[in-house]
Amino acid sequence: MNNEKSGSEAILTVEGKTYSLPVVTGTENDKAIDIGTLLQKTGYTTLDTGYKNTASCTSDITFLNGSEGILSYRGYGIEELAEKCVFIEVAYLLVHGHLPNPAEYENFRQLLKRFALIHEDMIHFFDHFPPNAPPMAILSVMVNSLSSYYPEMSLDPLKTLDTAAARLISKIRTIAAFTYKKSMGHPLVYPRSDLNYCGNFLNMMFDKPVYPYTVRPEAVAALNKLLILHADHEQNCSTSTVRLVGSAGVNLYSSISAGINALWGPLHGGANEAVVTMLETIHQDNDNFKKYIEKAKDKSDPFRLSGFGHRVYKTFDPRGKIIKEACDDLLVALNVSDPLLDIARRLEEIALNDEYFIERNLFPNVDFYSGIIYRALGIPTNMFTVMFALGRLPGWIAQWKEQQEDPDSKIGRPRQVYIGEPSRPFVPMSKR
Ligand code: CMC
Repeated sequence: MNNEKSGSEAILTVEGKTYSLPVVTGTENDKAIDIGTLLQKTGYTTLDTGYKNTASCTSDITFLNGSEGILSYRGYGIEELAEKCVFIEVAYLLVHGHLPNPAEYENFRQLLKRFALIHEDMIHFFDHFPPNAPPMAILSVMVNSLSSYYPEMSLDPLKTLDTAAARLISKIRTIAAFTYKKSMGHPLVYPRSDLNYCGNFLNMMFDKPVYPYTVRPEAVAALNKLLILHADHEQNCSTSTVRLVGSAGVNLYSSISAGINALWGPLHGGANEAVVTMLETIHQDNDNFKKYIEKAKDKSDPFRLSGFGHRVYKTFDPRGKIIKEACDDLLVALNVSDPLLDIARRLEEIALNDEYFIERNLFPNVDFYSGIIYRALGIPTNMFTVMFALGRLPGWIAQWKEQQEDPDSKIGRPRQVYIGEPSRPFVPMSKR
């Protein structure tokens, strides 16, 4: 991988003094000024709120070009992966760096089957959450608890990583499905060894003693696609959280649990849930698109069009494009008619023709149509972000692994510019 200093340099002038800083060039020609020696040389740090201009690491996992709408995992275009692979193949690719050959794939499948159960004691945890507990809160607690059931990770993280990765990828879908079953007050449905990864998840979610569930291949295909599209997205908020927590030497399970909490936010993974709530609100408000478009544009109103805009994509989100097509296909295949799909299409059209959205390069992102697919699959709105977490897990694992293996990795510790009170004398209690 070409992540070496490229030989070119950036010249920086600070208070009349000139400094030379090396330029790093990535495989796809993305360039960064390496400011590793800036503080030492100049006494200055950099200020970059929201890290809009800061690369926190070099990485060979995912490439993203926001101005051309390109996304690839380990060099393979997302369009091809979404069309030709199943999710666990892509999970393997992300974690291990190459597409599995038949023997590797079979071995991985067997590991996922072997690890599908969670410790029976953990099932009691579900009973102690209040009714209506947010599934993301439960998911993060349960994933964190895995670190106490499988403590070997803390002894030799890299040696045990492959097993821990398979364990997590397998168990997270059992935890997610059990969370839903408990919230419904239904008996738990255990994983079955005759079903594939996505089929097993759908069966654990929807099979009932009185109404056996039939796993439909169209549903499995749609879920595989959705999970693949969510599987990694370089240094987004939750992934950066996983890396930051991992940089302190925290085990994989707890680092991922922290990432799950970051993903929960409505500006991040929580947007898929927010989209459906927004579409329902518009529908109940007599399809009053104008009102919500105006609200989104009004700077004094915190309302934003959920599922629109992206920090990096400034043309279109390639995942959004694939999801929109998959959404159309699935609804036809399952013979489902969802009024929210119409609302979404009309809202998209209005926004894409509105100056405000055009000027700011705001396009539908991955979350805009994903909720409609989840609804067609029968997944309730409050589980949408859990679905995102299921998909993103292999990316988090791959990023955590990359960071642990990097000999130059350091504990993440940003600087700040202090703007508080200058030094002042202490005032005793009696004089305040
Ligand atoms: N609706 C209305 N205005 C928006 C929106 C939106 N969805 N997104 C951005 N803007 C405006 C924003 O107000 C700002 O306007 P101005 O320049 O006049 O101040 C401009 O566009 C740039 O926005 P920003 O907030 O500086 O951009 P950002 O890169 O910090 O934020 C974002 C990116 C995704 C958080 C934001 O677009 C947003 O809040 N979108 C809605 C939430 C959403 O869909 N999130 C999912 C993102 S994709 C999946 C994921 O990563 O989890």
